[in-house]
Amino acid sequence: MENMHHERLLIIDFGSQVTQLIARRLRELSVYCEIHPFQNVTDAFLQEFAPKAVIFSGGPASVIDDGSPRPPVSVFDLGVPILGICYGQQVMMQSLGGKVERGHGTAEFGRAYVTPESELALLDGWFQTNKEQVWMSHGDHVSEIAPGFAVYGTSPNAPFAITADVDRNFYAVQFHPEVHHTPNGAKLYENFVRLAGFTGDWTMGAYREQAIAAIKDQVGDKPVICALSGGVDSSVAAALLHEAIGSQLTCVFVDHGLLRLNEADEVVAMFRDNMNLKVIHAQEQELFLGELEGVSDPETKRKIIGKLFIDVFQKYADQIEGAAFLAQGTLYPDVIESVSFSGGPSVTIKSHHNVGGLPEKMGLKLVEPLRELFKDEVRALGRELGLPASFIGRHPFPGPGLAIRCPGEITREKLEILRKADAVYIDQIRKHGLYDEIWQAFVAILPVRTVGVMGDGRTYDFACALRAVTSVDGMTADYYPFSHEFLGETATRIINEVQGINRVTYDITSKPPGTIEWE
Ligand code: XMP
Repeated sequence: MENMHHERLLIIDFGSQVTQLIARRLRELSVYCEIHPFQNVTDAFLQEFAPKAVIFSGGPASVIDDGSPRPPVSVFDLGVPILGICYGQQVMMQSLGGKVERGHGTAEFGRAYVTPESELALLDGWFQTNKEQVWMSHGDHVSEIAPGFAVYGTSPNAPFAITADVDRNFYAVQFHPEVHHTPNGAKLYENFVRLAGFTGDWTMGAYREQAIAAIKDQVGDKPVICALSGGVDSSVAAALLHEAIGSQLTCVFVDHGLLRLNEADEVVAMFRDNMNLKVIHAQEQELFLGELEGVSDPETKRKIIGKLFIDVFQKYADQIEGAAFLAQGTLYPDVIESVSFSGGPSVTIKSHHNVGGLPEKMGLKLVEPLRELFKDEVRALGRELGLPASFIGRHPFPGPGLAIRCPGEITREKLEILRKADAVYIDQIRKHGLYDEIWQAFVAILPVRTVGVMGDGRTYDFACALRAVTSVDGMTADYYPFSHEFLGETATRIINEVQGINRVTYDITSKPPGTIEWE
């Protein structure tokens, strides 16, 4: 663990679905924090981490059950403020001598209202009226608070909704202040970090300097390779590494022939010509398209592309003498998602492609300079590093590229048509000022020809589907409600400007039950 942040808050994760939101709220307050699963938080860990404050997250377990997750008791002797949330409240009460009981009509799930009992600095400015909406999600409840604690707020089913031991700076709430349904919850975090004495100086500028120092420290004078995809994450990672180690970095841009119109040229021009990075443009279109010929099963396509990508990347990386590190644009949510509390297998909906497994195979160590950042923070860092706004704000683009927007068999003809239609569609979206409102938009070319009439002639061309969704993280999505005028104008433009398409449809499926991509 690198001690590059002087003021750190530790979030001990007991497995809540919304632990990441706690981190979000704190980062918004310019407070640096890290989430660590309870299993990893040992006495030694606490000493080394030296938190300025600690938050216990919620969690699905019951403190009444044997073997339920606990923090080490030494956390209460650190002499720093602690905030317990939901399960975190219960575990705090039980550890300090209070009592927790099971349900019996006192469970609360969903919206509830808390009323204040007496003044508490944690609640400064929070109660606008004499009750505040909060989000509850608990089966067990605290039945007796620990010695030293007092009650500062109640709800109909939680007589101990807000409790505190002011002398020790221990606070415990039964609800979730981090979620959207606790509308003023951010205020509690603001008060908590103020009480803990945080200066709130964690800015992107500071992060940039610290990250550069850490990269230099990690890689020394060894060569580093990076798979540049043209997406925001790998681009920001490459720009940051370049600033840290200059010509020690070589980027490999794998052109699989499944990119959008002019995309490869734009990426190479920006990084190689404008930013002066060493970029190998691996022109492997023939290899990929050759191997994909005749393949129409989505998972087979993904597997072929994923495997070839690794082979090709390795081929080019092998040419870089002495390469010792592989840089990846791994983000914080990826790091956190890999922590599983249930331990159960989850169903593979789509096998996403990345360079997983490659570092060990090639004997490379990983450099992941973005692994502490959320997506919007990566964008802020990109701006800080001088990447153009149009680049930073680009919609996500999947690793397998247009292959998964071409259901059925992939042919060069279909890809050509798809590229042109997609370019017209995105141009329309930009012209109408909608690009930034939409999370992701693209065209899928359908494996079906339909009859049309243009001029006096019959046409028999491909149909395509427009897709545009709003989303926060790609896990769930809604279709974007374009006006009929927009859709009509776009369909006309595509049919007029793109030879090979004579029918345009709009996909109005949300996710779930659909997925964003067509394959
Ligand atoms: P789905 O289609 O699963 O997509 O709803 C969710 C988000 O993930 C992107 N996506 C991928 N990204 N490799 C990637 O890097 C992949 O294999 C892949 N498949 C889907 C998709 O574009 C959307 O943003």
